[in-house]
Amino acid sequence: MPENTGLSKIFAGAFAVLTVSAIAGLVTMIVVYKVEISEMNPTPRPTPPSTTLSPPPVMRLPGSLVPERYIIFLQPHLYTKIIQEVNVTSPNQTMLFTGNSTLHFRCVQKTGQIYLHSRDLAISDPHLVDKDTNDRIKVNSWKHHEDETDFLELELNGFLEAGGNYSLSLSFEGAISQSLDALFVSTYSEGGPASEDDTDAERFLAATHLEPTDARRLFPCLDEPEMKAVFELTVIHRRGTTALGNGAQSVSNVLDDEWKYTRFQPTQLMSTYLFAFVVSEFKSINSPSRVRIETYARPEAIDAGHAEYAANITGQILAYFEELFDIEYQPNKLQQIAVPDLNSGAMENWGLITYQEGALLYEEGVSSFLRKEVIASTIAHELAHHWFGNLVTMKWWNELWLKEGFATYWSPFAVDKVEPSFKIKDVEVMQELHAAFEEDALESSRPLSADPGEVQTTSEISGMFDSISYSKGAVVLRMLANVVGENVFNNGIRMYLKEHQGGNTDQNDLWDYIELARRDKSGLRAAQLMDPWTNQKGYPVITIDTKNGEIRQKQFLLNDTMDSRLRKEEFISKKGEWILANVDCYGYYRVNYNPENWQRLLTQLETNPDRIPLMNRGQLVDDAFNLARAKLIDVTLALNATRFLSKEREFLPWESAERNLRYFTLMFDRTEVYLQEKVRGLYSFFRNYTDESRVPSDQSLQHNQIYAIQLACSNGLPECIEMAQDKFAAWMNGNGTNRIHPNLRTVIYCQAVAAGGKKEWEFAWGEFQRATDPSEKEQLEYALSCTRKTWLLNRFLEYTLDPEKIRLMDVASTISHISENVAGQLPAWNFVRAHWDYVSQGDPVMLINQVTRRFSTTFELKERTTVTSAGMWLIDGWLEYFARDKESHSAFRAMQQAIEETKVNIQWVRDNKDAILEWFERETAHLD
Ligand SMILES: *[C@@H]1O[C@H](CO)[C@@H](O)[C@H](O)[C@H]1NC(C)=O
Ligand SMILES: *[C@@H]1O[C@H](CO)[C@@H](O)[C@H](O)[C@H]1NC(C)=O
Ligand SMILES: *[C@@H]1O[C@H](CO)[C@@H](O)[C@H](O)[C@H]1NC(C)=O
Ligand SMILES: *[C@@H]1O[C@H](CO)[C@@H](O)[C@H](O)[C@H]1NC(C)=O
Ligand SMILES: *[C@@H]1O[C@H](CO)[C@@H](O)[C@H](O)[C@H]1NC(C)=O
Ligand SMILES: *[C@@H]1O[C@H](CO)[C@@H](O)[C@H](O)[C@H]1NC(C)=O
Ligand SMILES: [Zn+2]
Repeated sequence: MPENTGLSKIFAGAFAVLTVSAIAGLVTMIVVYKVEISEMNPTPRPTPPSTTLSPPPVMRLPGSLVPERYIIFLQPHLYTKIIQEVNVTSPNQTMLFTGNSTLHFRCVQKTGQIYLHSRDLAISDPHLVDKDTNDRIKVNSWKHHEDETDFLELELNGFLEAGGNYSLSLSFEGAISQSLDALFVSTYSEGGPASEDDTDAERFLAATHLEPTDARRLFPCLDEPEMKAVFELTVIHRRGTTALGNGAQSVSNVLDDEWKYTRFQPTQLMSTYLFAFVVSEFKSINSPSRVRIETYARPEAIDAGHAEYAANITGQILAYFEELFDIEYQPNKLQQIAVPDLNSGAMENWGLITYQEGALLYEEGVSSFLRKEVIASTIAHELAHHWFGNLVTMKWWNELWLKEGFATYWSPFAVDKVEPSFKIKDVEVMQELHAAFEEDALESSRPLSADPGEVQTTSEISGMFDSISYSKGAVVLRMLANVVGENVFNNGIRMYLKEHQGGNTDQNDLWDYIELARRDKSGLRAAQLMDPWTNQKGYPVITIDTKNGEIRQKQFLLNDTMDSRLRKEEFISKKGEWILANVDCYGYYRVNYNPENWQRLLTQLETNPDRIPLMNRGQLVDDAFNLARAKLIDVTLALNATRFLSKEREFLPWESAERNLRYFTLMFDRTEVYLQEKVRGLYSFFRNYTDESRVPSDQSLQHNQIYAIQLACSNGLPECIEMAQDKFAAWMNGNGTNRIHPNLRTVIYCQAVAAGGKKEWEFAWGEFQRATDPSEKEQLEYALSCTRKTWLLNRFLEYTLDPEKIRLMDVASTISHISENVAGQLPAWNFVRAHWDYVSQGDPVMLINQVTRRFSTTFELKERTTVTSAGMWLIDGWLEYFARDKESHSAFRAMQQAIEETKVNIQWVRDNKDAILEWFERETAHLD
């Protein structure tokens, strides 16, 4: 178990660094964030209607029935391959599935109707039995509600009595989805990519992805996380295929020439969204472990050993968590499967975790070493869900962070244990911190624990899968662990898990057990401490004045119009020394200082940066730029904070500076000249490795080598561009031999395609189509978005509409990459709007967040007068379209955030343009 708690004290002693938590301990934390709590009127869970004959008043199930057990039969009629013979009428692919289910339940309140969730299912043959008397109860009629509730209402001839036990059987059929949700089809080619007319190699598999509300598209059910039950599944599938489910297989037998059935052991009590099954022709390998662990993938990938890395680490990660949480993994098997098409990186279905291939498969010699970080982190995140999500589940989706924040928080601990050389923790923490800071600086953000009344429809629920739940959730937990001490925190967590396993919780249950674990009960209770961070949106900026010892705090907003509330604290300032707050960034806040202290910190950075802890070197830069964006400090101060980079060799400060200077690069030509000068030292540092296509052995240096090449080439350092072009040309002319080191492929492909033309692009496209390894495909796909030729980018955009060229699951990321390219911003923007219905099928929130946000902020900045007004109109017009046609579309809030950020940026640039221009001109004057 890594111990971090002592760290801040060590720094404080050695460097005369003051931490805010050291200043006043626990109390400060709440003082630090005490902005007015916005009026919150949480809509309570509806109490069951008093008259049992009226429909439920809101979107939630009435609660009169408690599910216990589902006995489910499912039969996907899909073929895994279509055999074509001239004299045989070939069977057409069929997307039908049929099934039946028997739900055993208790009635806790007398009712004359049964409400279930069901969507896009044809229902027949309801059969309701009173199990206490064995009498059949007649179902008079049943109907689907024509609204967003997805209710299936059964009108009974008689009543269900409180305390009675019943079973309801239904038959149903539905369509296998082609858009990666519910029960969906995924395709791949056996023996490498198929040519256009070679359909013999095409293979199909059926898989499920039910989170958050698609279980109701597979079978009628009580589809709410609190409605836990036992699931007993039988799958009827074609002979020659394998069926996997949540439970271990109990029997499997042939039915006839065409079909067999596989029955699975009953699951534990679990929520509907964790239900899963897969029917495929995949193969598997085992991992050494206490529990049986099997990793499934395409037979070719298994034979080539691509699942070996995942199989190697899964058992170790599982064992780490079992020890940490002091509760064993409970099912008797763990299967994980790489599905060629999957809408999210992975899904933690209980006992049957699904992954995108890129998040599970590692190909020696082709995949970048750094791919292992993605694989390890993803596996760790999903395994953490066994405890946070599966075993202990949030009561309702408004507190999704109780599972996603925790899984994000624990993942780096497990990776650090299993792969200490990755040194993944600092980098992960900074990533989460910045993702949270960015989204949460907007007026349109939301509290971590959202108002349940605002999380009702499926699209509102989908909207919860954002950086607030994942990143802010993780960051706030890290802050709490630091304040109470990691041991206390972990003890509290263990008690919380033991007490609530099998059940559902809200945040108060968590605070209760953290509080219980604290021996020192003085000061604020955990709930008092944490509620301000979880019940209100945003975060504070604290301002420390070393001259008069004052600390002020207020909410940090990009559009900063709020009055600051002053607050004086006991504060000891050491004359002559600088002061650094929030050492190692445990706190979820930004820090501002008086100009003198800023100046001393910057001088320290330029003379001996190592005296400032690494994470803070990155954070000082990030804080400075964001404080400048919020007009709390002068922009030239932020720019001054990048001067020290010429001597910096670590990743985090560079990443911070580059991310913050991205707008400037688009706006001001001199930024490139400035950065080129700064990055020269970093590039030379790795030059010997790079030129020989080698990488340093230290994994964190490997990140920085890639980053150095990316920065140097994209800012036009001639020796870098030449190097990239030479290496790429050697591959193009090398009869299929690629000598570029796997780590360097993404960046070199991209930079060579950027510097090249049609020839390079078409070569990359050809290789992309040929590639079977997910890593290689991903790096080529990225490279294709790097060209500066608009007509090639337009061609690439068109390709995204053809699933044979770009898989549906990759559409959003492809467009996102194109929009990051200056030449691609406007084409991508127009394309997304023109083809919204197709491109948003996958994950509209992700699409808006990653695509719209970026290009709406950047291309508007470029030509602020002309494009701004046109662009603003486009955005507002588009928003109106949403408002009209898709009232509650989950992308709506992401859209609002994009607009807010854009408006603020435009205003800011308008105000600061001259000062920035002047600064760059002065800094780069000697370079002309
Ligand atoms: C299809 O036709 C070929 C030659 O005409 C024959 O050899 C083969 O047996 C036929 N297949 C079937 C399934 O009838
Ligand atoms: C397959 O589909 C085609 C066209 O829809 C139809 O003519 C043919 O009869 C179908 N074959 C089978 C075996 O159902
Ligand atoms: C469900 O379907 C299976 C397989 O077709 C069948 O054996 C079983 O009797 C059905 N159960 C109900 C309750 O209809
Ligand atoms: C998996 O572990 C084995 C045994 O430790 C090792 O030989 C092999 O190289 C590992 N494979 C990968 C891909 O890490
Ligand atoms: C930035 O640095 C320049 C040159 O050292 C200095 O003149 C200027 O005052 C600094 N700006 C701020 C806001 O500190
Ligand atoms: C900033 O906020 C103020 C007050 O809420 C608002 O009037 C103004 O329009 C906002 N400015 C921008 C650029 O969004
Ligand atoms: Zn998750």
